[in-house]
This record gives sequence, C-alpha cells and structure tokens, in this order.
Amino acid sequence: MKLFLDTGNLKEIETLAAIGIIDGVTTNPSLLAKEPGDFRSNLKKICDIVKGPVSGEVVATDFAGMIREGREIAQIDPHMVVKVPLTRDGIRACKALTGEGARVNVTLVFSAAQALLAAKVGATFVSPFVGRLDDVASGGMALIGEIVEIFDNYEFATEVLVASCRHPMHIVEAARMGADICTCPAAVIDQLFNHPLTEFGLQKFLKDWERAQAVKA
Ligand code: E4P
Repeated sequence: MKLFLDTGNLKEIETLAAIGIIDGVTTNPSLLAKEPGDFRSNLKKICDIVKGPVSGEVVATDFAGMIREGREIAQIDPHMVVKVPLTRDGIRACKALTGEGARVNVTLVFSAAQALLAAKVGATFVSPFVGRLDDVASGGMALIGEIVEIFDNYEFATEVLVASCRHPMHIVEAARMGADICTCPAAVIDQLFNHPLTEFGLQKFLKDWERAQAVKA
C-alpha cells in the first residue's frame, strides 16, 4: 500500500521523503492557503522532492473553469495530478481531462455511489474522506470496504486513495481491506513508527551492551 503525505508544507515533505516512505503528496486549497509563496511554484517544489503523484486541486466549480485550471495544474510538472470535486461538473471535467492524458483525483467522496461515478469516467484516484465521515458518526472505514469490493468486481483501474486519515488504525484497516493508498498528515505518519516495546527494547539492548563493554574494559 502506498503512503501519501497530506500537506502543502515543504519542510514536512522533505523530512518524511528523506526516510523513503512517501510515495506521493495530496494538497487541497485549505492546505495550500496556509503556505507562503505562489502555490504553483510550491507544487513544483513538492514534485521535485517526492518524484511521485502530487495532487493539486481546482477551485473553479464550473466545467470550463475546471478544465482551464486543470490544464494549468497538469502543466506544472509531469508528476502533477489534477484534483476535482465530486460534482456533476467535476465528473464531466474528470472525463475530459483524463481524455487529454491528465491524471485526475476525484475528491470529496462520501459514498460508494459517488466512487462508482468517478471510476466510470476513468479517474486515476478516488478520494473517500474517512475521518470526516467518522466525525458525523457514519463509519468511514465501512465505505472503504464497499468501494474496494465494487472496484474489484468490475476490475476498475481507479485507485482507492483513503483520505482524511486521522490515526494509525485508519491506515492499518485500509491496508487490510486492500485500499491502494492512504494520505495522511505528517503527525499521523510519525505515529506509525511508535511502539513502547520498541523504545523499551532498544534502551535495554544499549544498556546491556554498555555494561558488557565496561566489564571487558
Ligand atoms: C485529501 O486529499 C484531503 O486533502 C484530506 O485528506 C482532507 O483531510 P481532513 O478531513 O483532515 O481535512
């Protein structure tokens, strides 16, 4: 399963990319709005760091505007993926942009029916938001199971990109269900490393080693 970082922050991306576990990055208008500088040059820098799929979202809500912005985003770098919202115009734009050779990530997906629409128009990625569903007491991970089942039934090539991940169990459950990708904030990826027994075991190994060296000296 691939891990994407859900951020527009270059420092976070550099830090985690250096470890070698980041396959791509997703951004959205809220995330990019927090960062200084021009969003296009920030997206270009992100592509240069991760050398994997980087999603940049259109802010137009009409078909013509999405196509115009989508083409601009796709031209930033060959790694760019155009993100469009799951609306009628977004689905139409997904089909048109995909037809032109762009990769499209359909975002703001909250139901299996919506995911099916995105797959039918050839989306490269579909982004169901599990955390935001959990927030309204509507099991986010159950939706991932439904989408994976539907995509498997029809062998859709669209990848299931689990978005709005809030904690490591979202990632573990997504992996068990066979989702293709999880996108998470840096803090959630950091949590994947942690286990008290790892820390405890390492301290013990080091102490035992030091003690033995002192005896031998
Ligand atoms: C996905 O592409 C979105 O940027 C993101 O996962 C949304 O997460 P949030 O619900 O934590 O804002």
